[in-house]
Amino acid sequence: MSGTKDLHQIVYISTATTAVGREEAIAQQMHFAENNKRRAITGILLYRAGNFMQVIEGDKTVVRELYTKIEADPRHQDVVQLLDEPIVERAFPNWSMGMEDLDSEETRAKPGWNAFLTTPLTAREFFGKPGKVKRLLDCFKHDNDT
Ligand SMILES: Cc1cc2nc3c(=O)[nH]c(=O)nc-3n(C[C@H](O)[C@H](O)[C@H](O)COP(=O)(O)O)c2cc1C
Repeated sequence: MSGTKDLHQIVYISTATTAVGREEAIAQQMHFAENNKRRAITGILLYRAGNFMQVIEGDKTVVRELYTKIEADPRHQDVVQLLDEPIVERAFPNWSMGMEDLDSEETRAKPGWNAFLTTPLTAREFFGKPGKVKRLLDCFKHDNDT
């Protein structure tokens, strides 16, 4: 996806308000992906044990507007922003919104994953630690190569 002038990325972490099962999370995500495609948003939604980490990237204004909506969504709470910065290129150019369940078998096989085997997706683990956030996200980046 190209042609975006003011490329921007926001990463946040949050806690699901209702127990979101894997299937429900995936169904939701398919709907998000359609919305995102229309807005030239790409990214990834990670899920582990009731917590989310999401990357949204695209035009700065569009990303900020989407983040404001997501932040107010009653399906999750304790939304904490981890990164909010301009980027030179998209980290997940081929995903309108990739979804990864961190406890799935596929995830366990990823390079660099050992460090995160038992790390919960909580602000306590990731807030103020941009390097750690990026190391986790890097585990998923190569999947997105075509
Ligand atoms: C964890 C989580 C992730 C979400 N991710 C997206 C997303 O990537 N794209 C999107 O359009 N909506 C996403 N939403 C839903 C938004 O909060 C909102 O419901 C959606 O943008 C529809 O807004 P609209 O009715 O104004 O179009 C997410 C919600 C939650 C709880």
